[in-house]
Amino acid sequence: MRILVTGGAGFIGSNVALELQRRQPKADIVVLDSFSEGTFANLVDFRGDVVCADLTEPSWTMSIGDAPFDQIYHLAAISDQRVTDQAKMMRANVEGFRALLDFAQPTQTPVVYASSASTYGLRAGVMREGDAPSPATVYAFSKMVMDNLARIRTEELKEWRLIGMRYFNVYGPREGHKGVPASMIYHLSKQMMESQRPRIFEFGEQKRDFVYIDDAVNATILAMEKAPATGIYNAGTGVPRSFNDMVRILNTVLDTALPAEYIPCAFKASYQSHTEADLTRSRKDLGYRPQFTLEKGIAEYMRFLYPDRLRDVSQRVAKAKKRETRKLVAKPPAKTKKKRSR
Ligand SMILES: NC(=O)c1ccc[n+]([C@@H]2O[C@H](COP(=O)([O-])OP(=O)(O)OC[C@H]3O[C@@H](n4cnc5c(N)ncnc54)[C@H](O)[C@@H]3O)[C@@H](O)[C@H]2O)c1
Repeated sequence: MRILVTGGAGFIGSNVALELQRRQPKADIVVLDSFSEGTFANLVDFRGDVVCADLTEPSWTMSIGDAPFDQIYHLAAISDQRVTDQAKMMRANVEGFRALLDFAQPTQTPVVYASSASTYGLRAGVMREGDAPSPATVYAFSKMVMDNLARIRTEELKEWRLIGMRYFNVYGPREGHKGVPASMIYHLSKQMMESQRPRIFEFGEQKRDFVYIDDAVNATILAMEKAPATGIYNAGTGVPRSFNDMVRILNTVLDTALPAEYIPCAFKASYQSHTEADLTRSRKDLGYRPQFTLEKGIAEYMRFLYPDRLRDVSQRVAKAKKRETRKLVAKPPAKTKKKRSR
């Protein structure tokens, strides 16, 4: 079995490559990355070949050699939604994908590629794969065009599977290289570890579908194994949580008591204030069942980021749960006697 993982030095790509290595130790796994954003540090435990090449340069196919692949996971892209250079974004995301499809088509190698929940746009409510896309940024637009391209390419080639993953807000180990676009959970935890108040947009009641990396990776591999045909699948938890929830959980896990500091939202015109994955299709076709609540995912992630500080994290979370339960079952305070008015 030969497997190609593009964008394998990045956040999701490196976690996919490492999990494939764990699940299929005999497979020949090749990572391809331009190293424009990703880092070697994400791959120190990887035992396969790593090709440094840019998918938008025609020479990348020469670097990768002639032996065909059985599976391709395509995670390479500009993942920073703040990039406004339209030509740059379209070249990297759409033309890079087109070149990859040209490479995979003769052998009809199945491709699982990264689409994005950003294609759903700025509306609230449950997001279903069949909903009309409504991209608010050129990043989201590039992902919508990738979905279109996958559909068009396989209209005449029904046996060839191109499967798009609509990732929601993924967080977890190996995202630090992303800088500002890394998850809020990463940034807020850094602030709180320095005893700073966590800064979130006014007034913290925005809700996002935060999905832990292990669930996102599992959905991705399930898509390769089980998706019956070309199509798109949501990869979230189905449970949107507020930014205030996130701060509360971080305080519990990090053993801090730092209230949120609310700041005005700098990206109002393109900011998704509510994301929520509908998982009906992913559950039915892929058998995907997310395993990580926000509480469990944050606890796991903080243990990875701050192992020395968090040795007793499970006890702390358990204690906090007990405290909450006690509060809920506590008797209401005894009525105080009314003072007699004179
Ligand atoms: N992280 C999320 O929450 C999230 C959400 C929705 C969609 N996605 C998508 O998932 C994919 C992976 O995201 P990520 O968070 O791991 O981002 P990332 O920036 O960590 O990884 C992308 C990788 O692609 C590489 N790359 C970029 N352009 C390339 C090119 N032309 N040729 C070869 N390599 C190139 C970068 O060097 C980087 O290592 C992206 O397509 C992103 O758009 C991510």
